[in-house]
Amino acid sequence: MDQSNSELRTAKWLLWASINLLIVGYFAYAITAPASIVKRPLLPGKTTHGHYQIELDCDACHAPVANEKTHSKSNVMQDACNRCHADQLSLAKDTHPAAKFNDPTNADRLLILDAQNCLSCHQEHVPDQTGQSGLTVPTDYCWHCHQDVADSRPSHVGMAFDSCATAGCHNYHDNRALYEKFLDQHHGEPDYLSIAALPKRNSFDKWSAEHADSVSLVASQSDAPLVAKGDARIPPLWQQSAHAAAGVNCRGCHGEMNENQVDEWTNSVAIDACGECHQRQTESFVRGKHGMRLASGLSPMTPAQARLPMHSDAAHRELTCAACHDDHEFDTQYASVGACQKCHADAHSMAYENSSHAVLWQQELAGELPAGSGVTCATCHMPRMTEGDEVWVSHDQNANLRPSETMAREICAHCHGLEFSLSSLSDPALAENCYSSEPATRIESVQMAHDWFVQRAEAKAQRAAEKARRSTKTKD
Ligand code: HEC
Ligand code: HEC
Ligand code: HEC
Ligand code: HEC
Ligand code: HEC
Ligand code: HEC
Ligand code: HEC
Ligand code: HEC
Ligand code: HEC
Ligand code: HEC
Repeated sequence: MDQSNSELRTAKWLLWASINLLIVGYFAYAITAPASIVKRPLLPGKTTHGHYQIELDCDACHAPVANEKTHSKSNVMQDACNRCHADQLSLAKDTHPAAKFNDPTNADRLLILDAQNCLSCHQEHVPDQTGQSGLTVPTDYCWHCHQDVADSRPSHVGMAFDSCATAGCHNYHDNRALYEKFLDQHHGEPDYLSIAALPKRNSFDKWSAEHADSVSLVASQSDAPLVAKGDARIPPLWQQSAHAAAGVNCRGCHGEMNENQVDEWTNSVAIDACGECHQRQTESFVRGKHGMRLASGLSPMTPAQARLPMHSDAAHRELTCAACHDDHEFDTQYASVGACQKCHADAHSMAYENSSHAVLWQQELAGELPAGSGVTCATCHMPRMTEGDEVWVSHDQNANLRPSETMAREICAHCHGLEFSLSSLSDPALAENCYSSEPATRIESVQMAHDWFVQRAEAKAQRAAEKARRSTKTKD
């Protein structure tokens, strides 16, 4: 009897000790392990829409730590925010950069809201406090620093402070399409411009110029080894692609130098291989929601992990270059709409099909409209960037996504007047129906900016006339 009792006690003790060991071991592993699922229980709360994909990579934002207690508020580095976002904000010509507040005359403003610290306005793991863009500030917070705007701008008398940033008029960081001079320059534009088309892509021409000796290839010239040639479907697809046309053979993607400098064949092609020739497309891809996990060294994103509605049959498709550039075709028409529709199933994406933009695209495909006059998902979400005389496609679909006014200058302006574009973008019903009806209300800021410049010019002319009159009087 006694013996079995003590055996039971030993067994219980062993069980208790091993459970504890397991727990301790689990946390020790969780903390030291690279970004992985085991870190999830350490998160203090749900991470924001912008960052949840990389939430398991704690060290991306928190200074690297040796034990879990040191993941804390105090080791969230502002440097980390800047490491990933500084370029984006400087491209957006941030109207409220930290440097603006170095000026001692602005010191009193920082007492109320430390605008030099990103975390004064953006937070993490506190879903009940954060709104869109991970924001914790109330919508009327502009009041803290701009209380006097009604005095300096008669046009602003009586405006509510929560309308500054919600009515399509201002943003905190990105005012590229919203500053007064720009608004005035685009005053009076018609809703529909007479020339309505995107710039033509031309990175192809540049590559050809640099590889003047390359000739276009046909299927029989494939440099793949016999085993790989076995798949008869591939060479004809490749022959029709821009790659064969530009003289890029199979080994351009499948060749890999081994340590003996021998070009070895590999069946798998990682995005780095594409990046060797398409650097900017690859770099921009890993900055947006499609590629951001790859930038943090995590596995590719899949619809199964998404928070937005996705088609269930696409749950396990991986977001690599091949998600849109399927197989060996690299068909950019398919990539621009068909590919997106395989995954995205939210109301806006589903509504595209019935929009007048989609009709334009069908007309372009049928040859009834010139190239570039159709509007696809990619037209709005993957802008064609003009740099010097080169036009390439940005693969960061988040760079112009929110605030949505950001799209006005880079996208809509190719075809629409500014007032129409801003009015459309700030209408939530149009976001839902994918811009398939006219905006319900018109924003007034374009007219206001114009009136302001007219008034200023009139006042200036008046002062000049006054001065001239006075000087002729004194001469008399
Ligand atoms: C995208 C950036 C980011 C990532 C990734 C991230 N955090 Fe945080 N974390 C923050 C920010 C921002 C705060 C709030 C800091 C503040 O208020 O000063 C925070 C706060 C915290 C806090 C303190 C909470 C409090 O209320 O005191 C803990 C604990 C924490 N994070 C743990 C983690 C762990 C564990 C991971 C990884 C599993 C992680 N975080 C990943 C940005 C991040
Ligand atoms: C490892 C890189 C990385 C770090 C570190 C990081 N971010 Fe981000 N952040 C991203 C990416 C990628 C996105 C998603 C794409 C986008 O919206 O630009 C994003 C999105 C955002 C958004 C937009 C969210 C939305 O819903 O539209 C805000 C705001 C933001 N980050 C602020 C911060 C702040 C503040 C910090 C510092 C605590 C920070 N980020 C740290 C990479 C990073
Ligand atoms: C005084 C408040 C405030 C501070 C401080 C602030 N932000 Fe923001 N941020 C906003 C608001 C408001 C938005 C929503 C869009 C807008 O109005 O521009 C936003 C949006 C963003 C976005 C996504 C949209 C975009 O315009 O690209 C990023 C990324 C971002 N902030 C990063 C940062 C970083 C990094 C810092 C620190 C250097 C920072 N913010 C400091 C208020 C702030
Ligand atoms: C922490 C203080 C602070 C907050 C909060 C703030 N601003 Fe500003 N803002 C400034 C300062 C400083 C300037 C520089 C000009 C000046 O002294 O008025 C400025 C300039 C501006 C300008 C002129 C920008 C230019 O250079 O063309 C606009 C427009 C503006 N802010 C709008 C807003 C809006 C809208 C909000 C709220 C979404 C806001 N600000 C929130 C401090 C702030
Ligand atoms: C050896 C260089 C090289 C490699 C590696 C390479 N490409 Fe290309 N790619 C080109 C050239 C040259 C063109 C034609 C010129 C252009 O559009 O840039 C091209 C064109 C394209 C096009 C446009 C097709 C069209 O009809 O306009 C896409 C899409 C593309 N490549 C995707 C990829 C992807 C995805 C990878 C990786 C799996 C990849 N490329 C790897 C050189 C390369
Ligand atoms: C522009 C880059 C590129 C070129 C050129 C290219 N491939 Fe591929 N190939 C890929 C990609 C991307 C994959 C998918 C790899 C993965 O899933 O890791 C692939 C996969 C394959 C596979 C693996 C089996 C399969 O179907 O998934 C074979 C075999 C293959 N390619 C043969 C060829 C042959 C033969 C040629 C020339 C006629 C060629 N490839 C030219 C990019 C290329
Ligand atoms: C979400 C879908 C999608 C993914 C993922 C994607 N692309 Fe694209 N890509 C497109 C679309 C759509 C176009 C054509 C856009 C246009 O015609 O304006 C395009 C065009 C291109 C072009 C030719 C246009 C140019 O910029 O000169 C290249 C090269 C290219 N992609 C490379 C890549 C590489 C490399 C990757 C992976 C790092 C990749 N793409 C991933 C959708 C995608
Ligand atoms: C393989 C599936 C897949 C394909 C193909 C795909 N996407 Fe996505 N997309 C996603 C996933 C997953 C996310 C992240 C969603 C989330 O965070 O909830 C995403 C995010 C986005 C976002 C950012 C949404 C946000 O709120 O931050 C946009 C915009 C977008 N995709 C547009 C496109 C366009 C345009 C195409 C075609 C050119 C496309 N996608 C092709 C799966 C896909
Ligand atoms: C005329 C331009 C335009 C076209 C065409 C367009 N979009 Fe959008 N899309 C936008 C804008 C603007 C937003 C941001 C809306 C907002 O938040 O106010 C957006 C938002 C999104 C989002 C985020 C939705 C969410 O609920 O957070 C996804 C995903 C997306 N678009 C995918 C697509 C896909 C897929 C297509 C094609 C089937 C497409 N879009 C066509 C302009 C466009
Ligand atoms: C390549 C040219 C082009 C681009 C880029 C473009 N549009 Fe359009 N859009 C048109 C044309 C043309 C029509 C008229 C179509 C018709 O009536 O058949 C139109 C129609 C519209 C309509 C009215 C739809 C209806 O059915 O009444 C809205 C709203 C709209 N566009 C918003 C936008 C916004 C917002 C952007 C930028 C995010 C944008 N468009 C980008 C060419 C373009």
